[in-house]
Amino acid sequence: MTHEYFNPVRTVYGAGALSSLPDLMGGRRALLVTFPEARELGLAARIEALLGDQLTGVIDDVRPNPDVAELDALYNAFWSGGSAGADVIIAVGGGSAIDTAKALMVATPSGRFSELVTLLASGTAFTPPHAKTLIAVPTTAGTGSEVTPWATVWDREAQKKYSLHLPQTWPTIALIDPELMLSLPASVTLQSGLDALSHALESIWNVNANPVSDTFAVAAVHEILEALPQLMKHLDDVTLRGRMALAALKAGMAFSNTRTALAHSISYEMTLRYGLPHGIACSFPLPMVLERAIGQSQERDAVLKRALGELSDAPGRLARFIEQLGVRTSFADYGVSADQARQLVAYALTGARGKNFIGTTQESLKEAA
Ligand SMILES: [Fe+2]
Repeated sequence: MTHEYFNPVRTVYGAGALSSLPDLMGGRRALLVTFPEARELGLAARIEALLGDQLTGVIDDVRPNPDVAELDALYNAFWSGGSAGADVIIAVGGGSAIDTAKALMVATPSGRFSELVTLLASGTAFTPPHAKTLIAVPTTAGTGSEVTPWATVWDREAQKKYSLHLPQTWPTIALIDPELMLSLPASVTLQSGLDALSHALESIWNVNANPVSDTFAVAAVHEILEALPQLMKHLDDVTLRGRMALAALKAGMAFSNTRTALAHSISYEMTLRYGLPHGIACSFPLPMVLERAIGQSQERDAVLKRALGELSDAPGRLARFIEQLGVRTSFADYGVSADQARQLVAYALTGARGKNFIGTTQESLKEAA
């Protein structure tokens, strides 16, 4: 059977790697997109000092889970002249900063964000007339957004979630510096680490899996199962931060080619309806999705076994691993009744990510209809 793997992102990894930013810029001018705390942490000032007048502007008020209402003004200002000649967008932060940069980097013909939302909502193919180059500098170890072309854009008012992905939204460079993760609080460290675990497992129980994505995914699972509990006890250990950063990168490389599956499809509903943070919403269902995945195909079972060991008790072991980190693993723990959970899973199976799940059959889709 033939298979393909493609990822065009140049990755630069290492403690202290941020200082290579001026070299990586190659004389181009850049806009910095980051989160509000980057100012307090001194990170924005450090980048300003590194880049001097190569930096044409700073957007430092990126909110978690970027919403169309917040992106509208940013985008319109950027493309109506606020980009001030920037060739590059440098996104420094978690998934929200990187996703915001991906939404900003592609121009619509009108230069208006409302046009982008209309295109996303209708799923119309679209070639941006202009696009900026993206350098992604993650400050969390989890989203993998630094090595994928996808951005999630939320419309909380309409209770919808859009996925932006174009050939132009791949980052050019992912600059991964574990030192930038040392100040991450325990809650975000845990949520992002579990998000990475979810990316790795979701790329295995996935109809788009291939031997290359499997190799990245299995390595990521091993590393996360070992390093994340240690890191939660030693948040200031740069070696453990580095191990999780590398594991999240590998998980990102895996799902950059497969996309996610059922657990993420469930997570979008849990985030929209119940307000759960992404890393919790996409990891608490992992044991139940694993249970559904086992036995679907001998070939997938073999890869799951490489990742998790003996499969007969793997869902229970995975549940204990997640619960020992302080995250409950049943719908009831989040106020979702058994009936609501059944409906929610049925609905999640019909979503684009749900259909990537190896256990999604015509029958299960019919049941959900
Ligand atoms: Fe995720």
